[in-house]
Amino acid sequence: MGRILAIANQKGGVGKTTTAINLSASLAAGESKTLLIDMDPQGNAGSGLGVPIRDLECSIYDMLLNVDEAGAGIDVASFLHRTELKFLDVIPSNRDLAGAEIELVSMEGREFRLSRAISCLREKYDHIIIDCPPALSLLTINALVVADAVIVPLQCEYFALEGISELMNTIELIRGSLNPTLALEGILLTMFDSRMSLANQVVEEARTHFGDHVFKTLIPRNVRLSECPSFGKPIVLYDLRSKGCEGYLSLASELLQREAARKVA
Ligand SMILES: Nc1ncnc2c1ncn2[C@@H]1O[C@H](COP(=O)(O)OP(=O)(O)OP(=O)(O)O)[C@@H](O)[C@H]1O
Ligand SMILES: [Mg+2]
Repeated sequence: MGRILAIANQKGGVGKTTTAINLSASLAAGESKTLLIDMDPQGNAGSGLGVPIRDLECSIYDMLLNVDEAGAGIDVASFLHRTELKFLDVIPSNRDLAGAEIELVSMEGREFRLSRAISCLREKYDHIIIDCPPALSLLTINALVVADAVIVPLQCEYFALEGISELMNTIELIRGSLNPTLALEGILLTMFDSRMSLANQVVEEARTHFGDHVFKTLIPRNVRLSECPSFGKPIVLYDLRSKGCEGYLSLASELLQREAARKVA
């Protein structure tokens, strides 16, 4: 059974999508069967992997609106796109998804739509990674309801921890009602620049606050990471020797190690 990980932080521009794409690609490069699901109407996760998202025949919008209580009513395979990496598939999104957000509000089982739609995919993948939008919206809630655990990217910047208690409260609320086993997989520090003393302060502050929940891996600020989406490639296919690539490969192996250690315990 695959593990489902949501990449969430309601703060914008902290590295959610960069992490979703490059963690997925790094896991896939290690031959772990991985699916990336884009729950953000901005559509950057799909386009960053080279999927032309403007005119999707079957978009995640249709998936969420048409799935029924039994998980039927949709053909899940029609939403899957292959990528350049053999072990990585993606379910892309686009602007249509912004409409789903509004339509879902009045629908039956509105928090469980993604869960119903993708539960049959769990056995086909080792990891399913969900990229969330920058809001604690119904789309993010759908992701947190189906996820086993959450990864929270924090940008090593001023106010990095601002709003984090709101996110932790939401996770707590969801644990108390819709998904009792939802875990915090880890806090990931992104865009780290060791030359900035502020960045080092943020790392320290995060470690004081969240202890072992903070991943040992720090994702460096690296221009190659910001370039590769415009080529529709994850960093492993764009610049394998870059510091950014090193960062995400190390994150993938840290995640796999944690999972293996948990299995033994
Ligand atoms: N480690 C990094 N080094 C350099 N640039 C980065 C890094 N991580 C992310 N970026 C750049 O920062 C910007 C924001 O990153 P990203 O889109 O991943 O954030 P996000 O949290 O998904 O944003 P949103 O909240 O809008 O969905 C992008 O232009 C991205 O290319
Ligand atoms: Mg994003």
